Amino acid sequence: MEKLTVAVTPPYEALLENGLLDRAGYYAARAVRGRRVMIVTDDGVPEAYPLRARASFESAGFAAEIFVFPHGEANKTLRTVEAALDAADAAGLTRGDLFAALGGGLAGDLTGLAAALYLRGVDFIQIPTTLLAMVDASVGGKTAVNLRGGKNLCGAFHQPRLVLCDPDTLSTLPPAVYAEGMAEVIKAGAICDAALLDRVARHEDIAGVIAGCIRIKADIVRGDEHDRGRRQLLNLGHTFGHALEKLSGFSIYHGEGVAVGMLIAAFAAEAHALCEPGVYAELRSLISDANLPVSTAFTAREIAANAMNDKKRQGDTLTLVLPEKRGKSRLYPIPAADLAAFIACCDGEVTAR
Ligand code: GLY
Repeated sequence: MEKLTVAVTPPYEALLENGLLDRAGYYAARAVRGRRVMIVTDDGVPEAYPLRARASFESAGFAAEIFVFPHGEANKTLRTVEAALDAADAAGLTRGDLFAALGGGLAGDLTGLAAALYLRGVDFIQIPTTLLAMVDASVGGKTAVNLRGGKNLCGAFHQPRLVLCDPDTLSTLPPAVYAEGMAEVIKAGAICDAALLDRVARHEDIAGVIAGCIRIKADIVRGDEHDRGRRQLLNLGHTFGHALEKLSGFSIYHGEGVAVGMLIAAFAAEAHALCEPGVYAELRSLISDANLPVSTAFTAREIAANAMNDKKRQGDTLTLVLPEKRGKSRLYPIPAADLAAFIACCDGEVTAR
C-alpha cells in the first residue's frame, strides 16, 4: 500500500491500494471519531460501489446511509447540496459524524461543501473512483459547486480526514472519463515534474503515476493550503479550460477543457518567448496520445471573453499559469483586457481562426 501524508493542520493520509473500497470502513474508523456516515455519490457511479462502501462501513461499526444525486455539471449546485444536507439531518448525523464522498471530482467537491456547511462543519473522507479525482480533486480540500456564472464559483476550503484511492475502480470508467484524468496527470508533470512526463510517455503503471501526482499535490498544498501563491500553478490549463466548458454548454469533459487549455497556454507562452521552444509540441503529443483533444472550434476571442469570470481574477488582473520550460510552469499576471490579444496567436493552431 502507498501511504502519502498531506501535511496540513491537521495532517491526513492518502492511501492507495487495489481493493481499498472494501476496506474503507476499517481505515475510516482509524481516522475519524464519528460512527455515523452519509455516503454521497452520483448515479453515474456503478451501483455496486456505494453498496460495497456501505457494507465496509457497517462491518467496521458505522451506521451508514447512501445519498445519490443525478450526475452531471447541471446538478453541481447549492440545490443538490441542500438535498444532501437534508438527508444528513434526516439520518441524524451529529457534529461528531461524517460524510464520505464516493465518485469523481464532482461528487468530491459537492460532498466536501456539504460537510463544510453541515452544523458549521463536520468531517468528511474522500473515496475517489475516477482518475481525475484520484490525482487531483480529492486531495487539498477545495470544495465547490457551480453558479450560473461559471464553474466552482461557490465553495470553501475544507480538508478531508482521509483519502482512499482504489485503482481497481478505474476499470469501470468509460475511456473518455479515464482520458480526462490523464489531462490532470500531464498537468502535474508540466507544472513541476519533467520525469512524470517521461513516465506518462512510457505508459508506466497507473498506480505509480497516481502516487506521483498525489505526492506533487500534497507538496504544493502543504506550502499554500489556501491558494494564495504556488497552489495556483495547479490551475495550468484551467482558466481556458473552464471557459471552454462553459462555451460548450458543459458538453465537454473538464479534463478535455484542461487539455486544450494547457495547449493554449503553452502555444501562447512560446509565441511570446516566455517559454522554451518544444514544450508545446511535447504536451500536444502526450495529450493526443492520451486520446484527448488538441484543438477547439472556438476562437481565442470567444475563449478570452468567457475567461473573464475566472475565480482567480482579482480586479482587472488575471493570473495565468504558463509553462516556462519542460516540467516547469510559472504564474503570469496579465491585465484582463489584454487576454484576447495574448492568446490571439493560437487561432488556426489550437483555437479556431
Ligand atoms: N485542483 C486545483 C487545486 O486543488 O488547487
